[in-house]
Amino acid sequence: MAGKTIINNSFILFPDAEWIDTIKAEEWKLNSFSANNFYSDEERIKLEEKYWPITEITDKFNRQSVSYQLSKKDCLHRWLKYKEGFSSQLVKMLLDEFEVGEGDLVMDPFMGSGTTALVCALRGINSIGYDVLPMSKLSILAKTSVYNYSIIELQQVLEDIKTLEIPDNYTKCTPFLSITSGAYPETESRAIAYYTEYFAESQYSDIAKNLVKLCILNSLEKISYTIKSGQYLGWDHRCPKIIEINRLRVEAGKKPFVNKNDKGVLPTLKEALTLEFAQMVEDVIFLQSKDSAFNATCKYTEGSVLFEIAKVHDNTISGVITSPPYCNRYDYTRTYGLELAYLGVDDNQVKQLRQKLLSCTVESKTKIEMLKRHYVDIGRQDDCEKVLSIVTDNKVLNEIKGALRARNANGEINNKGVLRMVEGYFMELAFLYSELFRVCKPGAHVAFVNDNVRYAGEVIPVDYLSTNIAEQTGFKPVKIYTLRQQKGNSSQQMAKYGRVALRKSITIWEKE
Ligand SMILES: C[S@@+](CC[C@H](N)C(=O)[O-])C[C@H]1O[C@@H](n2cnc3c(N)ncnc32)[C@H](O)[C@@H]1O
Repeated sequence: MAGKTIINNSFILFPDAEWIDTIKAEEWKLNSFSANNFYSDEERIKLEEKYWPITEITDKFNRQSVSYQLSKKDCLHRWLKYKEGFSSQLVKMLLDEFEVGEGDLVMDPFMGSGTTALVCALRGINSIGYDVLPMSKLSILAKTSVYNYSIIELQQVLEDIKTLEIPDNYTKCTPFLSITSGAYPETESRAIAYYTEYFAESQYSDIAKNLVKLCILNSLEKISYTIKSGQYLGWDHRCPKIIEINRLRVEAGKKPFVNKNDKGVLPTLKEALTLEFAQMVEDVIFLQSKDSAFNATCKYTEGSVLFEIAKVHDNTISGVITSPPYCNRYDYTRTYGLELAYLGVDDNQVKQLRQKLLSCTVESKTKIEMLKRHYVDIGRQDDCEKVLSIVTDNKVLNEIKGALRARNANGEINNKGVLRMVEGYFMELAFLYSELFRVCKPGAHVAFVNDNVRYAGEVIPVDYLSTNIAEQTGFKPVKIYTLRQQKGNSSQQMAKYGRVALRKSITIWEKE
């Protein structure tokens, strides 16, 4: 297992990677973590010194490969429009370097669109993974069925999509959440309901029906007045709901909201769905022409990895390739509101899903009591205590928590949920790292893609802090690949605290 590539404690992921000269590399190393020296950053500086020697600035991965951008052009992997996804190339590179091959079992704790699982399946590698959002199930089922579709059937479906007309007396509309009401022009809301019902009741095979559903799901944002924008759902200024809100504001003597979003001409469902489905048929024809088949199992569980992973046996996993939600306040249950509503999730269930996500939003509540109960239920209280003491004793995390509390007391944090989110984020990840250590085979490697973040002028080195916690749970830190392209700061942070470029990294650990 990857024995050849480990030399003197240094893991060569890219033997031919260009090494950049020291002066430039030093720019990636931070020597100040607290803007205007507001709070002590001694522990973060020590951590920077500790892991700097295993940090490599790389050109081999770039913003495109760790994001969905490359997948957009990638046959099969583009089937779920998931902006949070990483590319298949990234997974391929990591599998090669970890020397994981046919018959091995790889885990992705945060599957999203299923990129890791699909790359594995195409190579005969078995996989197991989790996600709390129902879009994953739809996407993974559609993708893993790629060799089972009948092309003739899919072509009939495409013809049906092109010719289907909504009866004049059809009045049903697609379901919505409070945050998505008014998202579609009324005709399109009816079209979504009608197309969905028509295909669900049709004689087509279950996998063809699932593919249509996925294509409708992918069309939702395009035909709506909404725009996915990080923490929330943005709206086109022409949306009747937005016009009405502004009218009422003006009537009440308030200024209207400034909104410059304009999506241009919105396609109809028929237009968007035809394009989506035609592209999928093209991908199926291409992949089936290669006369291949999946020779691997792909086990997906809809649920939180924090609890589900307990069911996995010790020492069974050959590698982990994943990307958790970042600690950046992005709320998947808001940005994917249209998709969740379409899949039948109601307002109450959305709230529950939000709390199942790894703490990554300001609304996340602590999961500590739930985790404690869970460890009691599975008879592993000692393991729970061990993880809790790792987290509570971590000097870097304590420094960060202290800094954020002090910034908050100084009125610099506009939402107290940030403190709870940061604390919960690392606590929950510590539980996961500890479980990953248990389930990994000796020699297995773990790769996490993540972004560093900054709140109220306090830099949180997510890559190094995660590595530190993982090391305390038993892993050997092997390498921290950091992209040459770093992340900027919000304009508010820049104006108030100056600019600090933030690393985007892939941390690699090994169970020796
Ligand atoms: C960055 S995305 C992963 C994208 C994936 N690598 C891909 O290529 O599509 C993180 C995913 O973690 C999922 N997630 C968040 N909390 C989770 C939890 N507690 N258990 C399982 N999945 C979770 C989110 O729903 C989201 O799909």
